[in-house]
Amino acid sequence: MESRLTGVEWDIRPLASEQADRVAAVLGLARLGQGDGFYLVAWDGDQPAGHAHLALTDPPELQDVEVLAQYRRRGVGSALTAAAEAEARKRGFDRLRVTVSVDNAAAQALYRTLGYRDAGVPPRRVLGTVMIRTGPLEVDDTLLTWDKRLAGSG
Ligand SMILES: CC(C)(COP(=O)(O)OP(=O)(O)OC[C@H]1O[C@@H](n2cnc3c(N)ncnc32)[C@H](O)[C@@H]1OP(=O)(O)O)[C@@H](O)C(=O)NCCC(=O)NCCS
Repeated sequence: MESRLTGVEWDIRPLASEQADRVAAVLGLARLGQGDGFYLVAWDGDQPAGHAHLALTDPPELQDVEVLAQYRRRGVGSALTAAAEAEARKRGFDRLRVTVSVDNAAAQALYRTLGYRDAGVPPRRVLGTVMIRTGPLEVDDTLLTWDKRLAGSG
């Protein structure tokens, strides 16, 4: 709230390699080794407040949006998403995709507010063990695929 009411903007920058340990200590950076994109990090001074991974696939995909609990509902998730959209647009993409769990009401509310809509891809059941940077992760989820046409593109 405060950030939007006062007009304060979050400081969002691509993750620099020397910052990785500091950010990983408080946020996951689960997709750091994925190799197809990069992380954007929202900073509160020298404290990481949230991150998002932008995969430069075709279409590009917003992944691993995570805001620390104490920073939620202050516009960080929105600002990270807007920054990812700008980065995608800069590279010539006219659309950004996101997958969101059927059970994740907060993330669905965030993306819906920002203009993401059903991309017409059937819900995808994900079941089993996925390997992320921090180790194996047991998953039993159904993912919805949403996307947004980026303003000002082509
Ligand atoms: C989902 C998440 C990234 C949202 O980040 P955030 O910084 O709190 O989001 P914002 O402050 O930018 O929220 C913007 C709008 O989204 C909606 N929203 C965000 N969180 C919400 C919640 N918990 N319940 C309902 N609406 C919510 C609201 O409309 C909100 O505007 P408002 O605060 O003026 O009502 C954050 O809750 C989080 O990190 N969750 C855990 C990780 C996760 O689920 N990531 C998403 C993976 S797809």
